Amino acid sequence: MSELPKTVIVTGGASGIGYAFCEHLATLGHRIVVADLRGGDEAAARLREQGAKAIGVQADVVSEEDVATMAAAAEREFGGIDVLVNNAGLFTTLALKPFEQITNQEWMRVMEVNTLGPFNCAKAVLPALRRSGRGRLVNIASTVPIKGPPNMSHYVASKGAVIAFTRSLARELAKDKITVNAIAPGFTLSDGVLQTDLQNRIGDNARTTGRCLQRDQVPADLVGALAYLVSDGAGFVTGQTLAVDGGGVFL
Ligand SMILES: NC(=O)c1ccc[n+]([C@@H]2O[C@H](COP(=O)([O-])OP(=O)(O)OC[C@H]3O[C@@H](n4cnc5c(N)ncnc54)[C@H](O)[C@@H]3O)[C@@H](O)[C@H]2O)c1
Repeated sequence: MSELPKTVIVTGGASGIGYAFCEHLATLGHRIVVADLRGGDEAAARLREQGAKAIGVQADVVSEEDVATMAAAAEREFGGIDVLVNNAGLFTTLALKPFEQITNQEWMRVMEVNTLGPFNCAKAVLPALRRSGRGRLVNIASTVPIKGPPNMSHYVASKGAVIAFTRSLARELAKDKITVNAIAPGFTLSDGVLQTDLQNRIGDNARTTGRCLQRDQVPADLVGALAYLVSDGAGFVTGQTLAVDGGGVFL
């Protein structure tokens, strides 16, 4: 690669969209830390078999202790951290239901994983990103805060918060030469989606017909956007949300 490799932590990186991110960034020569509740070691081993530099870390993004361990493991193994991809999120396991049927516990749990998680991880890696001098933070949001689909109001609100958090952090961290951006995927046939009947329940509009490019979205459709935001050429891009959904929404 012509650019110097970066050390990249991908939360929720053991499967789904997160694993596609890990695999693609590894092919570009970056060093990968696969952080996940489960399966991080196995995913990292698969990446190493493909010639990548990768480690796995067991980490729940909600746990301050776990994400401190995650950051320490990355620094110990690779001598620093350049990029955090806040990808772990609760979506594919959520029951779709009218908002008045969502319990306080369900609401809080989605907020915990999808908003406290990225906040925790950003705090844990911040000293290393500052030292990097070319730090990048990429939050995986969604197009749902733009579209406002029904029956998932906790998820929609959580991803709206991710976009707002991205903008606020971009201003705070610019002085540290850290860029902060979000990727907003459309409905994507990730591992988690394929393991549920969500793809049947979500409707044709979200899956295909509501997009300019009328086909199902797959994790591979997202990797180019991340590679761009991580690249040296994107160093002057910050606070942005990049929708990658085949033209379902225009930001
Ligand atoms: N699939 C979609 O249609 C879609 C669309 C827009 C945005 N997204 C977002 O993309 C991200 C990935 O989605 P996906 O479809 O690949 O999900 P997935 O369910 O297929 O995979 C999620 C991964 O995150 C891990 N994870 C879950 N909770 C965690 C926690 N507390 N700590 C650490 N790891 C945790 C899981 O173990 C799993 O490996 C999520 O943030 C999701 O909200 C997905």
